[in-house]
Amino acid sequence: MKKARATVQLSDEFLAAIDAEGGRFVPPCPERRSAPIPLWKIMKLYRENIIAVFSENDFRRPIIHGRYLALDVYTVNDPALVQETFQTKHEIFQRKTPQMRHALAPLLGDGLFVSDSETWKRRRAVVGPIIHTSKVRSFSPLMCETAVEWREHWQDLGDGAEVNVLAEMAELTAEIISRTVFGRRLGREHTSEIVAGFAEYQKHIDQMDIPSVLGLPDWFPRPRGLKVGRALRRVHGVIDEIVERFEQGTGDAEAVIGQLFAARAEGAEGAEALDREAIRNEAIVIFMAGHETTANTLAWAWFLISQSSRVRDRLQDELADVLEGRAPDIDDVRGLPYTRAIIEETLRLYPPVPILGRQALADGDINGTQVKRGSVVMVSPFMLHRKPDLWSRPDEFIPERFDERLTPRPSKYAYIPFAIGPRICPGLTFGLTEAILCLATLAQAFELDLAEGHVVRTQCRLTLRPGDTLPMLLRPRAAGAPASAAGQPLTEAPA
Ligand code: HEM
Repeated sequence: MKKARATVQLSDEFLAAIDAEGGRFVPPCPERRSAPIPLWKIMKLYRENIIAVFSENDFRRPIIHGRYLALDVYTVNDPALVQETFQTKHEIFQRKTPQMRHALAPLLGDGLFVSDSETWKRRRAVVGPIIHTSKVRSFSPLMCETAVEWREHWQDLGDGAEVNVLAEMAELTAEIISRTVFGRRLGREHTSEIVAGFAEYQKHIDQMDIPSVLGLPDWFPRPRGLKVGRALRRVHGVIDEIVERFEQGTGDAEAVIGQLFAARAEGAEGAEALDREAIRNEAIVIFMAGHETTANTLAWAWFLISQSSRVRDRLQDELADVLEGRAPDIDDVRGLPYTRAIIEETLRLYPPVPILGRQALADGDINGTQVKRGSVVMVSPFMLHRKPDLWSRPDEFIPERFDERLTPRPSKYAYIPFAIGPRICPGLTFGLTEAILCLATLAQAFELDLAEGHVVRTQCRLTLRPGDTLPMLLRPRAAGAPASAAGQPLTEAPA
């Protein structure tokens, strides 16, 4: 098999220049264990912070096998093997894990995110084109206007105000995806109710599917708590009401739901399968998949920027040069390579989906290692993005590694925050563009300082985030001003 190109390393001169500036910064990541740990501890970590499961040695290995009671788990950690698993052998390794399916199926039904085989193929053919790269321009005014509203909201809070940036970014991206999926008016009216329902649902679902670890089949009933049921009724109730408004012809045709109805009317391939419930399911999938991922990326980016005066100054210089004080729009995105590099480096260090899990649909092999039907195969973007032979100083925050003027792009099988293969995130350009536009709009007007004494830690439930809360202080900037000479001192958080 053709080996995927390894990441090009940053030059020694460049790294020495960062050191000379005092610009080294190693942000926090969970401690890597050096000795084996007992099964109960592994299971506890799976539940509480799955990325802490990997040992120092695991980061260097191409494939790791573990057997947990009745379950074989293979973790693939090499670009060529990622290509083999997710691209070449997609037919065998396309099914989501029992954990993921049983946790999300009550919410998403047979929605794209948790389906596979024929259902997945049909849904992907309908949903993919609606949020595809070519559509991002038409959605971008919603991103820009919402980011500007947020800037005004922060301006109202005043100099030195403390905000929970994780919650702020979650509300901002929820508002954007809500207006995208439901249309401006319906989106504005319903965002907070849906977000509250999702939060309640997530709080009460279990990350660990004990029946599959015990070797019990898919049809074995999983208990579902009363609280999960209540959260479900809440989310489904709101979305059903919105879908009804579209059926009555009062919805926005440009909105994603309007386009799902249009795809059915035009008879797009597989669209006949999109009945009312399918439309509801796909609307929830897009809302869920496109909300927390971008929110976490932005929250991590604010934290990282606040800890590196070197990066913050370069960002401010780029924004001042390119935008000269006006708010950015879609045509500015190409002209903001450093802002983009910050987002891409954030996604490398803290991929919002740090584990991509699959269950083998048939017996197969990965590079000669036999994988039996029913086994779990995982790829961890978190671990692959920090593999020492692929990245220079893998645990350091260095956005320049994504600056194509300095080094060629990493292989698409080595850098996978959006996954790879046929199940690659269809909202990739949407999410990247949204993150760049939001960061540029807000960073023009504000610098954010981490609240004194707050310690940031990685926390992974369904997605990877900087803890439960990220308190930061707002420091307004003069519009269009380049980096101030008086930068903040660089604080090095423990690795
Ligand atoms: C920074 C932002 C984002 C990141 C890092 C991200 C990451 C991912 C990843 C890793 C997957 C694959 C999960 C797996 O295979 O287990 C995925 C799937 C998906 N994403 Fe995104 N995503 C982002 C934003 C978005 C946005 C904005 C949308 C919608 C507008 C979106 C829609 C979807 C959908 C529908 C899927 C399911 C695709 C399928 O199963 O075929 N994502 N995303």
